[in-house]
Amino acid sequence: MKHSFVFATNNRHKLDEVRTIAGKQIEICSLRDIDCLTDIPETGATLEDNALQKAHYVYDQYHCNCFADDTGLEVEALGGAPGVYSARYAGDAHNSEANVQKLLCALKNVENRRARFRTVFALIIGGKEHLFEGSISGNIIRSRRGMNGFGYDPIFIPDGYDKTFAELGEEVKNKISHRAVAAQKLFRFLGQ
Ligand code: IMP
Repeated sequence: MKHSFVFATNNRHKLDEVRTIAGKQIEICSLRDIDCLTDIPETGATLEDNALQKAHYVYDQYHCNCFADDTGLEVEALGGAPGVYSARYAGDAHNSEANVQKLLCALKNVENRRARFRTVFALIIGGKEHLFEGSISGNIIRSRRGMNGFGYDPIFIPDGYDKTFAELGEEVKNKISHRAVAAQKLFRFLGQ
């Protein structure tokens, strides 16, 4: 039987990534698909808190199996910032251009470019919570490169590559990224 889940997001990039990783056996609906037009609050102090907050919102209001993710970019030289505040780094507007610009400015004279993306998925199935984590380390470059992906992708080069996520494109990103690692753990769990 085909499983059906709500992924508590309307981010088209995240949906495409996770649908590709899930394959054909799992149907994934977005918030728009269930007519949830609310901007679900993310007021937690950690990625785990925020992912659970979003998943619980959907589970409690719509009574369906669902999962949510929260992602942060943790920059070593900034003590792990922007981390859980990655979406609002340059203000409340959730403006990726401004976020990237602010990060490049903060690292302008900084030699240590080490960073990692970390994603946490919160799954609620049959009323029970499960958490899955994925991360990938790499370096922040000094100016944007590449047209694919979203968010901080144009300035992040994963270890073992010489191109940014935005240059590598979805096929590579969907194999190695923070979200891919966490999503694979989630779908493996569901397949058990
Ligand atoms: P959220 O998980 O949607 O709250 O994302 C937090 C911030 O990280 C947002 O600014 C996103 O654009 C950014 N972000 C999330 N996932 C990725 C990714 O896979 N690549 C680059 N940026 C990302």
